[in-house]
This record gives sequence, C-alpha cells and structure tokens, in this order.
Amino acid sequence: MSTQGLAFTGAFHVQNKTWTAVDSYTQEHVHPTTAPNHSTLLDALRNSRDKGLPDIATAPVVAKMYALQCKANKVKHALEFGTLGGYTSIWLATVNPELQVTSLEISEHHRAVAQENLENAGVADRVTIRLGAALDVLPQLAKEIESGAKPKLGFVYIDADKQNNWNYMDRIIALCEQGAVIYVDNIVRGGSIIDAGNPEPRVQGARQVVENAGKDERVDSVVMQFVGEKGYDGMLMAVVR
Ligand code: DHB
Ligand code: MG
Repeated sequence: MSTQGLAFTGAFHVQNKTWTAVDSYTQEHVHPTTAPNHSTLLDALRNSRDKGLPDIATAPVVAKMYALQCKANKVKHALEFGTLGGYTSIWLATVNPELQVTSLEISEHHRAVAQENLENAGVADRVTIRLGAALDVLPQLAKEIESGAKPKLGFVYIDADKQNNWNYMDRIIALCEQGAVIYVDNIVRGGSIIDAGNPEPRVQGARQVVENAGKDERVDSVVMQFVGEKGYDGMLMAVVR
C-alpha cells in the first residue's frame, strides 16, 4: 500500500516522484489491498489526519519492515517512543499476533486518537499506551520488566523528541534481551546529519545518538540511508550484544 495522499506532505519531506512511484508499485505487490490490515492502516491515517495530528507517521515500508523484524526475531515485547496516532503500533501488532507493544506518548490528544485507532484495528488488548514524558514513565516500566511482570524488550523504536534520542537509548539497553534490535528514526534528515555546526536541536540529537552508540560496548550499530514516499531520511539500527 502507499498512503494514498494521506500522509507526508509536510515541508520537511523532499518529495521525489520516482521514489514515491517505486513505493506504490512494490507495495501493490508485497502489501496488496487484500492484506488483512490494509484498510485498518489507512483508516488510522485518515482518522489521525481528521483529528489534526501532524502527518509524520512512519512510512508504510519502514513500519512493515519493523513488523517483519519483530516476526523474524520472535519478539514478545516491543517498546515505542512516540505513539502519535498508533500507526506503527498497529503494524507491529497486526503482523505479530503474540506481540505485546508498549508505546509512550506525551500528548493527551495523540493518545486519545491513537486509542481510537487501536480499537478500530482490534489490537487495543495488546498495545498499551503510557501517557507522559518518556523519561518519567520509563522507571515504572523498568520495574515491571526487572520484576518479570513484563517480558524483556526484543524490539525498540525511538521516534519522539529527537534531543532525547540518546537518553532513551541509554536507558532502555538494560531492559533489552540479547539480540534485541533498537531503531532510531529520522537520523539522516535529508543529509543534514553531516553538518556539525547545524544548530537545529533535532540534527544535534541525531548526531549525538550516532556518536554515542558507536562508542558504546553494549550495542553494535549501523546507519541506513533511506528514500521513498517520505523523502530522504534514514535510521540507526543497534543490536544489543
Ligand atoms: C518529524 C518527526 C518525525 O518523527 C518524522 O519521522 C518526520 C518529521 C518532525 O518533527 O518534523
Ligand atoms: Mg519519525
């Protein structure tokens, strides 16, 4: 599927006809309209747009890649920083019937819209949104994981306030199982990652997480550049040793 004009029109995203057309063509084949979650995912984007959420949800291709990553690793518990409208959570949960997803969101409005979307998608029993600043909410989640009340994390997706990228990654590594995969979104930012003097805090947040991950013995990391209907960006992938 493509997002059929439902997302990614924001100025941040460079549009490129070929990248978008390749996404449309390939997804018609690998995620056709007959896929069980196809209309649910479009419903979530439509409802999110209608309720005024920013159109910055994870691209369908990338969200499906994360869902397949969870499937390949037989992940039991995934954590997301930044629920927005629940689009990525719906991908993760619909592709993985056994997966529990914990998703952290600071905006009450985003949480309310995401909850509607999760219920519409039939995954509200397996996706739990925790409302608050992630650094405030994490200690309680840590207690639940450390006590065994919740499984260790097998997959983490960091896609929230970029200035805290490293703080989030640093805190969750201890809650991950060996081999867990951590992704951090919006790392390449149209190439601005290489501009050391760029004062934009989101660029500095991207640089900090890459530089710190590279020095950290607990993970092995790579950065992937990515083009598609959402423009030119990319993600950091880190595997917990
Ligand atoms: C923005 C945030 C995102 O997480 C994203 O994927 C794209 C853009 C933003 O804040 O503009
Ligand atoms: Mg993002």
